[in-house]
Amino acid sequence: MGGSSNRFILDTTWLSLCRTGIGSIDADHRDIHDRIERLHEACALGRIDQCRTVSAGLLVAIGRHFHREEALFAPTEYPNARHHADQHRQLLHRLTVFATAVAHGSPSIREIADGADLVASVLMTDHVALDMDLKAYLQAGD
Ligand SMILES: [Fe+2]
Ligand SMILES: [Fe+2]
Repeated sequence: MGGSSNRFILDTTWLSLCRTGIGSIDADHRDIHDRIERLHEACALGRIDQCRTVSAGLLVAIGRHFHREEALFAPTEYPNARHHADQHRQLLHRLTVFATAVAHGSPSIREIADGADLVASVLMTDHVALDMDLKAYLQAGD
């Protein structure tokens, strides 16, 4: 089995469809996408050491990204601010569990690759379910 049939495909077309139009946010999404790709590449090469490094960086990057988004909507009357932030917290918790297991456990490459899919699905949840909602709110206020 190739192991790619269940992969979330975070390609550039998909990224452009989910553009918010906010430069810093779109740049973050691109950066996180690139890091997920690096994680998949490290898995494909069987490089556990690289998986650890990339996973740790991903966790930091996603945490920073969520902060940046929340700083953006906190001063507004965005009605879903609390829900959006709560979702960020839950997503970040799932990522922390993953990154901790990679950093301190003895996961197999397969387990890390599955975790990379989890990270991709987390990013997709943020983009599609939450950030598009934020985008619609900000555009309505223009
Ligand atoms: Fe986001
Ligand atoms: Fe978000």
